[in-house]
Amino acid sequence: MDRSIIRLLTCGSVDDGKSTLIGRLLVETDSIPHDTIESTKKIRRSGSTIAAGEIDFSLLTDGLEAEREQGITIDVAYRSMSLLDGKRLIISDAPGHEQYTRNMAVAASRADIGLVLIDATKGVRTQTLRHLTICSLMGVSRVIVAINKLDALDFQQVIYDEIKEIVEKVIARLQLLDVVFIPLSALAGDNVVGKSKNMSWYQGDTLLEAIQGWQPSKTAELSSRMRIQFVSRAENFRGLSGTVHHGSFNLGDEIRVFPSNKTSKISKIISDQKEVKSAAEFDAVTLLLESEVDATRGDLIAKVNEQLHPSDRFNADIVWLHEDELIHSRSYLLIAGSTQTPATITKIKHKIDVNTGSEISATDLGINEIGSVEIATDMPLTLLAYSESREFGNFILVDRLTFNTMGAGMIRHSLRRGENLTYQKYEVNKGARAAQKNQQAKVIWLTGLSGSGKSTIANGVEKRLYATGMHPYVLDGDNLRMGLNADLGFTPADRAENVRRISEVAKVLVDAGLIVLVAIISPFEADRRRAKSLFEDGEFIEVFVDTPVEICAARDPKGLYKKASEGNIPNFTGVGQDYQRPSKPDLLLKGDDDLDENIAKILKAII
Ligand code: ADX
Repeated sequence: MDRSIIRLLTCGSVDDGKSTLIGRLLVETDSIPHDTIESTKKIRRSGSTIAAGEIDFSLLTDGLEAEREQGITIDVAYRSMSLLDGKRLIISDAPGHEQYTRNMAVAASRADIGLVLIDATKGVRTQTLRHLTICSLMGVSRVIVAINKLDALDFQQVIYDEIKEIVEKVIARLQLLDVVFIPLSALAGDNVVGKSKNMSWYQGDTLLEAIQGWQPSKTAELSSRMRIQFVSRAENFRGLSGTVHHGSFNLGDEIRVFPSNKTSKISKIISDQKEVKSAAEFDAVTLLLESEVDATRGDLIAKVNEQLHPSDRFNADIVWLHEDELIHSRSYLLIAGSTQTPATITKIKHKIDVNTGSEISATDLGINEIGSVEIATDMPLTLLAYSESREFGNFILVDRLTFNTMGAGMIRHSLRRGENLTYQKYEVNKGARAAQKNQQAKVIWLTGLSGSGKSTIANGVEKRLYATGMHPYVLDGDNLRMGLNADLGFTPADRAENVRRISEVAKVLVDAGLIVLVAIISPFEADRRRAKSLFEDGEFIEVFVDTPVEICAARDPKGLYKKASEGNIPNFTGVGQDYQRPSKPDLLLKGDDDLDENIAKILKAII
């Protein structure tokens, strides 16, 4: 497999000579217009030691740094140049500081080569280790460690050797397989494009040679794969369209579609509105199959002899991209290629110290942090290990309400646990159980502040239903926290888990045919939405008990507002922690209205 584009990520800071190095690479490969080069011979920054009439290479890539200094956040800057063998090199430059870890990680996830720059006059610093860790985690296939500024140290081999030895130890731990060390001077030009005369002790590649010599690693050469981007239908026509990500497909090939695991034969391949005999890697094609198989957007097509394992449980690494931290137990939208499904982080196993690569125990994940997690998806997905395929092993997590991208993930492996379960259907079902009780099974989900009146209203509704011979049951937040949820506190993550468990219990009780009244604060919209998504249409009634916080505080039935105002309950809802008002409740009750009227409104909605 040959690739016409190579992607390089530069890791380092201005002080390491990054702009000078890239500037020189661009000039010496003739990638910069001559008038631009001329102007860099005339302009001098203050304190510059570069002689008049010489090129200040750093000026060629410097606009970027200037903007950064002015506090403008730049994600990643790109530059493109032609290599001598006709390939294109796309250079991405991500900020190197720790607060930009997320930007670098995302850029690294697309890079083939990571160029890690070390200033030999300063030696190996924490940031070098961070850059190596990120390159390793994000699957960069080759790392070039450029040991720069050797001109300032008389081109001494011993300094290069010392630095190399330190970095080699880190690399062994990080399992980076293809690493090239190059001693160079960006300023003097040694070993950038041409071989250095000053360092005859080094016989290896120059930077340009090391870039041009990169080959996709063997692991990238997977069996044939295509992900369905859309299914086109017309009379007597059903085409599966997408891009061939690996390998190739030929007319007559027997294929298998995942997750349905159904097989068929390719009867036609259409590319660019023409019929063709085969489709190669990167081709965008439509496949027609001999027999109709179950296939939708996001599904994966492979050759028939492949056995992939769709799963709904995965082990993954996640880079957290958003200021709001990861909430364990919250439902996010997982997007992988053209597939999307709700997903929950069921466990944060540990964080990765990006500066050392070591594991630290953790219960949350904040911006720029990288963690190892377990994730459960609502639907089985055919994802592969990221180390095997970046294409099929990466995903993003998106907030279900705001659609903000929250995290970027890499699959480590699927967990077999979910695969070995089958839903058992019982003959006596929900409908039959509810009919026996002469009612329709439902959940009435009362949300609102502490002291808003949820429990009092639930109590009234339950009494009325019970009196008419119906079968209601109340799930009360406080009561369940004394048993099932005794291990949970009041952090956003614990509240998400509280809501998750209670909604699952409610689902069981609805399945038993009951009318379930849930009385819990459930302050976060995303968690309430997830709860609702467990139920069928019309089965879940969200009731917002809207009582102003001043009234709740004046009622203060449990004395908690008093404690909170004295600073003894820091994350008390409505005082130290937010309550997100439901945007579209099915029923809105004013908590200071007459109790019987509120009860009547709910009863009207049920019966
Ligand atoms: S939820 O936010 O996770 O949905 P839940 O309804 O189960 O809360 O429990 C709330 C009850 O716990 C309150 O009625 C109150 O009695 C008690 N409580 C103790 N600490 C807090 C707190 N920090 N915030 C809110 N309620 C608290």
